[in-house]
This record gives sequence, C-alpha cells and structure tokens, in this order.
Amino acid sequence: MKVGIDFHNKENSKTYTTRHADNSWMEEVRQLLPMEKKHMKALDIGCGGGIYSKALADMGIGSVKGVDFSEVMLEGARKNCKEYKNISFMHGNAFETGLDGNEYDLLLERALIHHIQDLSACFSEAYRLLKHDGFYIVQDRTPDDCLVKGDDTHIRGYFFELFPKLVKKETSRRHKSKSVINMLYKTGFTNIKEIKLWEIRNEYDNKEQLLKDLRGRTGRSILHELDDEELELLINHIDKSLSTSTNIVEKDRWTIWMAVKSAVI
Ligand SMILES: C[S@@+](CC[C@H](N)C(=O)[O-])C[C@H]1O[C@@H](n2cnc3c(N)ncnc32)[C@H](O)[C@@H]1O
Repeated sequence: MKVGIDFHNKENSKTYTTRHADNSWMEEVRQLLPMEKKHMKALDIGCGGGIYSKALADMGIGSVKGVDFSEVMLEGARKNCKEYKNISFMHGNAFETGLDGNEYDLLLERALIHHIQDLSACFSEAYRLLKHDGFYIVQDRTPDDCLVKGDDTHIRGYFFELFPKLVKKETSRRHKSKSVINMLYKTGFTNIKEIKLWEIRNEYDNKEQLLKDLRGRTGRSILHELDDEELELLINHIDKSLSTSTNIVEKDRWTIWMAVKSAVI
C-alpha cells in the first residue's frame, strides 16, 4: 500500500522527467521577464527531474542551476538535461542551499511550496540568493485552483469528486494566495503580482495513454495518497466521465506569484 510520495525512493526517479514544459508556459514566463536573457543566472529550486530547468535554458537564459533535496530526483534531472551544457544540478535544501547570496537574477520554485510548511524560511533563503532587482517566480496551486471541477481537459478535478479524503489533503497542504502574498511582503519582496495560468500539462493521442499515465501516478503526488485499489476505481471513474477518447489536452490551473528583491528596502 502506498501512502504519500517519497521523493527519495528510486522508484520515483522518473516521475518528474517524462513531460516537457508547454510553449504556453515559456511564453507566460518570457512576458514576465522582458529583458535580455543570455546573461541571466537562474536557479530552479525543487527542480525535480529538470523539466523547467530545461525550459528556462530553452528560453535563452544563459546559466541555470537546478537544486533539489533528493539525490534520486537529481539523478533523473541530470539524465534529462544531459544535452545542455549551461544547466548544472546541486543537492540542497530550499531552506538553506549553501549557495552564495546576491548571485542570481531569477529564482524559480515550481510545484515546491505545497511540500513546504515554513514559507518564511523558504522565502528568506530565496531573498538572500537573489541579486538586487532579481526576480522570484513561485508557481503552485492554491486550494481554489485544485478544486475546479473535472472535465475533458481538467482531469485532476475528477480526483476530488470520488475521494473526499483527497480534498482534505489538498486543502491542508496548499497555501492560499493571500498567505503567499503576505509572506512575500513580510520577507521584503516588492512589485508582487499574482497571475492565473491554465498550463497544458500533457497531450494524449488517446484515452489509454492518459489512463496509463494516471496508473503510473506520474508527476502527481496526490495519487500517492491512494492505494492501488482506490487508484483503479478512480481510473474507471475518469474513463467513464470523459466524453472524448482521442486528442486529450490536459490542463491544470496554477497561480504564479512574481516578486522582486528591490534595490532599496
Ligand atoms: C512536485 S515536484 C516539482 C518538480 C519540478 N519543479 C516540476 O515542476 O516539475 C517537487 C520537488 O521539490 C523537491 N523538494 C521538496 N521539498 C524540498 C526542499 N525542502 N528543498 C529542496 N527540494 C525539495 C522534491 O524532491 C521534488 O523534486
């Protein structure tokens, strides 16, 4: 029986490597950073399998360092990004990376903060690492984002219809937007913006591909809260609920918080 994802278990080494970031994500982030990218130094903390480290490099950012507290994830990330000379990876904790401060133009933390209770420690480390005028981008789902109803594109919505225990889990681990914004201000960040994004997570030629992806719990830590029998019930429910069986475009609703480490505070 599986309960909760273990980022340090070798079985999960590929769980955050098999997708690629959709172009619409890169477009959104590019618009948030309307400056010359090639001299930028970026950090991707909680990088998992490096999907978004790669996306940052593909956007033209000169140097990207991925940091994760799991050696297992980093092993997958190194393989995933082996063609990229300007991406490196390092073992480290978001609370205390051990990296020099005032060094980075951009820090991305995508899908990290729902695994973190102490936002203050996480944001303080981000603040320390960034150069003055550096950008901090945090992307996660709020409880509201998670609980949007299921449909042919928002597959994740179906998880909660069938298993109320997952609603409890999601709403307790996800941070409300107001708490994130308040903590960013408290840490010293300024120019804080909140952006809502429906990010394309994956495209499947047919329903079987989607169901296989669900069965593998790939990149969906919430499914590690279900045992194998419950997962099969969910897969059947989704199979019956979808009105289409080909060309499925799966999207998730996210919130992006963008903040700046101001030169003067
Ligand atoms: C949901 S995955 C997201 C991976 C990647 N950012 C993405 O969006 O595909 C969360 C990642 O954060 C890492 N993580 C969780 N807590 C961490 C911490 N305190 N410090 C560093 N990494 C952490 C996990 O090992 C995992 O790789």
